[in-house]
Amino acid sequence: MAAGPAVARGEAAAEAVDRAASHRYMPDMSDTIEMLPIVVVPDPILKARARPVAATEMDQVRGLLPRMFATMYQAPGIGLAAPQVGVGLRFAIVDLMPDDKPTPIVLINPEVIARSEELATREEGCLSLPGQYADVTRPARVMVRYTDADGAKRQIEADGLLAACIQHEIDHLDGILFVDHLSALKRNMILRRLAKELRQKRAEAM
Ligand code: NI
Repeated sequence: MAAGPAVARGEAAAEAVDRAASHRYMPDMSDTIEMLPIVVVPDPILKARARPVAATEMDQVRGLLPRMFATMYQAPGIGLAAPQVGVGLRFAIVDLMPDDKPTPIVLINPEVIARSEELATREEGCLSLPGQYADVTRPARVMVRYTDADGAKRQIEADGLLAACIQHEIDHLDGILFVDHLSALKRNMILRRLAKELRQKRAEAM
């Protein structure tokens, strides 16, 4: 999930990477850490259902995490799912940076096992739909079961922004984007605007 428009407009990226220096996935947060290209709509991987991570693939997942975190912090974003960096596996990362402190969460094979009847609406954005934001309504609280980067089975009960962010990232593993929660009219408006903005950007770059 993208950080809110206010953050995206600011110069939070460099600052976020600085803060991330103390991050356990970036023991040597050097200039040489290689960012991963973020896949943007309409790439078909964003519409595909990702495959569960097998026990034998845990090393591969762990190997990707430092670059995924660096990519997310630089964007800046607060969540990033594997399909968004071209990897069709069921895992995602989240960090809301509460109190400006890196608080990374690695969700491998996450599953929503309970959701509240109460709904909450908040503005969402997505690094795969750069610059686009809309109000999305989801269950206000969710209980999620997942495997962490050490292979331990965990459960998290989330509310507020964390609940929205985790649901947004799990949606990515099922090929669902935040615009898929909107009316067809709103969705098409956003997708057309994004396509136009990307065309303009490419034209400027030429
Ligand atoms: Ni997203």
